[in-house]
Amino acid sequence: MDHFQIRDGVMHAEDVNLAALAKQVGTPFYCYSSATMERHFTVFRDAVAGLGDGNPLVAFAVKANPNLAVLATLARLGAGADVVSGGELARALAAGMPASRIVFSGVGKTRAELAAGVEAGILQFNVESEAEIDMLAEVAAAKGATVEIAIRINPAVDPKTHGKISTGGADAKFGIPWERLPAAFAQAAAHPNLRPVGLAAHIGSQLTKLEPVEDAIRKLGDLARQLEAAGHQIKRIDVGGGLGVPYRRDQAPPPSPADYAAMVARATEGWPWRLMFEPGRMIVGNAGVLVSEVILTKEGASKHFIVVDAAMNDLLRPSLYNAWHDILAVHPKTARTRATVVGPICETGDTFAEDREMEDVAAGDLVAFMTAGAYGATMASTYNSRPLVPEVMVKGAEWAIVSQRNQPAAMLALDAKAPWL
Ligand code: LLP
Repeated sequence: MDHFQIRDGVMHAEDVNLAALAKQVGTPFYCYSSATMERHFTVFRDAVAGLGDGNPLVAFAVKANPNLAVLATLARLGAGADVVSGGELARALAAGMPASRIVFSGVGKTRAELAAGVEAGILQFNVESEAEIDMLAEVAAAKGATVEIAIRINPAVDPKTHGKISTGGADAKFGIPWERLPAAFAQAAAHPNLRPVGLAAHIGSQLTKLEPVEDAIRKLGDLARQLEAAGHQIKRIDVGGGLGVPYRRDQAPPPSPADYAAMVARATEGWPWRLMFEPGRMIVGNAGVLVSEVILTKEGASKHFIVVDAAMNDLLRPSLYNAWHDILAVHPKTARTRATVVGPICETGDTFAEDREMEDVAAGDLVAFMTAGAYGATMASTYNSRPLVPEVMVKGAEWAIVSQRNQPAAMLALDAKAPWL
């Protein structure tokens, strides 16, 4: 459920008219609905509330949408943060997420990033390799700190999602192969500055099947018991994120948070450990749209092209993953057409929709790319020297620009001619 609805013939974000907003901020722009993300977070939090030791941590995967206002909205509801870089850590802290609710994931954290996490006093590092165990021990020792870690396992399950966002297969770069966990735990336990207290797994994103997640969770439980039998004290199990969201109004939705929670309840029955979750997309995906204006339409040899002012640099998912985003007219049209929707960038990959049956929009019309709240603005680039677009947050009838459009002149000012030029 989201709060982008047609009212009086025009799409609104909550109580804000998107056409009026476009006049004020210019296109393209991202627009987020705080009510939608609040609702998604609360639904998820409540669905998993009683699981594990009864005090689960829902750590929002910051990578999905690191905007400060988004993080602050979630922080107020008690969300923690799953961060994967020093930049994300700084954002989570700046947004008011307490260090005690921050977990640091990632396959290649640098010494400086590890040090920043140690200094902040975060809850847990999810360590992904034997080499990182030693690195973190060194960094913690240098700071005279003792840190709690979970080891991310590679559960060797096939998450049955798009190859580029699958992370759980045996040959993925993530985690330590689960067979090596006892040795890795012993290695960590031998360092006086490390306290290995947990296990973690994340098998992939936009998951539409729960069975692979269940397999991974059961593997985590088996391993935790095995490690406890070997004398380790397990406190927390992090089952990652990954739950898919509906991208297409004409297709059956993926499992709901309630379905997901029921599966986790089954797989973790009788667990004494604290559970951690790292949802990203399901919290913010449907809480954002990208609003764009049709620049012109043109006829190819056989195709009808709709050229919009947003491009692959603003919303990369269609060109990178062939991802589908519904494209709806901000002023709904009854006439339909079959069109290829493209941006202005000089490559064929700058295509949002291929020969799609959709509303017959024309030059000057506004369209909304739906479900663009996750992995949208955060994956934007300035390719073709296009400025990053603004992000707007709506709450009821109020709105605020929560990230500025960077101006071409400011972008140019970051460059310099080399001294010999
Ligand atoms: N935890 C870890 C360790 C992750 O690597 C990820 C996502 C998440 C949690 C959050 O997963 P989510 O709940 O959002 O599915 N750019 C891609 C998605 C990449 C996901 C990477 N990892 C896309 O646009 O589809």
